[in-house]
Amino acid sequence: MIDSQVAALHQAQIMKWVNLYPPKHFARFVFPSGESNKNLDFFQQVIEFLVGNEFSRALNLVAIGGGVVGDLTGFVAACYLRGVNFIYCPTTLLAQIDAAIGGKTGVNLPEGKNLVGTFYPPKQVICDSYFLTTLPDREFQSGLAEAVKHGMVCSEDYFNWLKENADAILSREPDVLNTLVTESIRLKAELVAKDVQDQDCRQWLNFGHTIGHAIESATGYHHYLHGEAVAIGMIAAMKLSEEQFGISADKTTELIDLLTKFGLPVTLDSSIDAGVKIEKIISYLKLDKKKRAGQLKWVLLKKMGHPILISGSLEDSLKPILLMLGAR
Ligand SMILES: NC(=O)c1ccc[n+]([C@@H]2O[C@H](COP(=O)([O-])OP(=O)(O)OC[C@H]3O[C@@H](n4cnc5c(N)ncnc54)[C@H](O)[C@@H]3O)[C@@H](O)[C@H]2O)c1
Repeated sequence: MIDSQVAALHQAQIMKWVNLYPPKHFARFVFPSGESNKNLDFFQQVIEFLVGNEFSRALNLVAIGGGVVGDLTGFVAACYLRGVNFIYCPTTLLAQIDAAIGGKTGVNLPEGKNLVGTFYPPKQVICDSYFLTTLPDREFQSGLAEAVKHGMVCSEDYFNWLKENADAILSREPDVLNTLVTESIRLKAELVAKDVQDQDCRQWLNFGHTIGHAIESATGYHHYLHGEAVAIGMIAAMKLSEEQFGISADKTTELIDLLTKFGLPVTLDSSIDAGVKIEKIISYLKLDKKKRAGQLKWVLLKKMGHPILISGSLEDSLKPILLMLGAR
């Protein structure tokens, strides 16, 4: 399975690699790029493609693309003939440091994102910084938000390293990118290994995501890339952390400075529909709360690298923070 844009850019190189060790039976499904295709229709199309090609359980199903192709292919791999070998070659920064680690697979339903899926980790993940050379700037920067999150939640040293190497990261120097990808994977994998089923410390990785998801929903998924919404969500989470746990406001300023350096938004865009409505963001948080059986969990920081998971209604505290961040 290969993302159509990745195929257009890298087909020749990928076929050179395939032909080094030609498989006995090879077929290629080009998946039309885009989140809107991560659905049950395409799940069925891929399954029918595999059946039509008479692939047995000896199949190695390889995903080459971003998180969309990875999530869908992983789900197909988990289901086809009750499970076949899954290999993932993530080609976006977000997929290399986030989606490829931890085994979450799935597709969207019209009712919401990732509502159907499984935990089915790939047998192998092959990250190559070669692919990142063609990633559009905005997609690259969106992926950087997850690296910043790893620093905030898991390691202040890593956060400081990101700050010190920001220029080289933005110039996509291969050695620096390899260090970034390796370190982010290590930090995420450590938490996943302790809590595969996402019931405890793995949820720390949702730092900035509770509010980020509500921002994405409130703006109809059209305006912000995932990492962009998470960037604003992390700032809001830091403001809540200042209030609830007394973390120093200097740390919030350091976060804002790094996100700005990485070209990520640090306030809500007031030009969208004359401003993102606070009540709309709160209503999506409440919807999220309903889905989670009445318990909305917030990841806040007591100190850099020291997250805490709390349940409760922080919506009233959040409203003035959202106002300060440019919501109306
Ligand atoms: N499974 C998980 O744990 C997990 C974690 C985070 C996100 N996700 C999922 O990942 C998806 C988002 O992933 P994404 O940001 O990688 O998006 P994506 O897969 O849509 O890729 C983003 C864009 O970049 C293009 N692209 C990919 N690689 C490229 C390259 N090397 N050069 C040029 N263009 C390239 C794609 O065609 C697409 O247009 C969402 O569906 C999200 O739910 C899953």
